Amino acid sequence: MALVKIGGGRSEAEGAEVIAERAEVEAFLAQFGIDYERWTPAHDIASDAPSDEILAAYASEIEALKRRGGYVTADVIDVKPETPNLDVMLAKFSREHWHDEDEVRFIIEGRGLFHVHPPDGPVFAIEVEAGDLIRVPRGTHHWFDLCSDRRIRAIRLFQDVSGWTPHYTDSGVDKGFEPICFGPAYVGRT
Ligand SMILES: [Fe+2]
Repeated sequence: MALVKIGGGRSEAEGAEVIAERAEVEAFLAQFGIDYERWTPAHDIASDAPSDEILAAYASEIEALKRRGGYVTADVIDVKPETPNLDVMLAKFSREHWHDEDEVRFIIEGRGLFHVHPPDGPVFAIEVEAGDLIRVPRGTHHWFDLCSDRRIRAIRLFQDVSGWTPHYTDSGVDKGFEPICFGPAYVGRT
């Protein structure tokens, strides 16, 4: 279940507004055209299953999304602490950018943190975990970090066969936000 943190604080204790209730998360994100859904129950897939197996298990959901959003291709991104050149890869995601197409992710395992920078409002963070589907519309300024466990496995859908193409804003806004996830074991500061 996604958490949304609004504002620059890391937690409620540091002044961030935190939304954890599903209907409120959906309603808040909908203001920005961001779709959020839970696909539950998720299919029972081993975390180390081959990508083909994951795509086959979720074939009907992927087809439904393709019909809805004009997505033409899907793949599986699989990132773990031992992934070679992980920091280089993460550096591409963690600078503010936008895309000419929607960013659609269904989280199979692990967690991650999207920051979204609306044109007229404060930056907010969306912490996603297994079972979360998120669609960030084309043109939305955002960036993405892993949580401290540096693990995520997700289905990605693309409207363009060329795949993930970022346009960096070079605003530097991302530098003002630490990628702090709450996570299941998070203990708020007092
Ligand atoms: Fe992106």
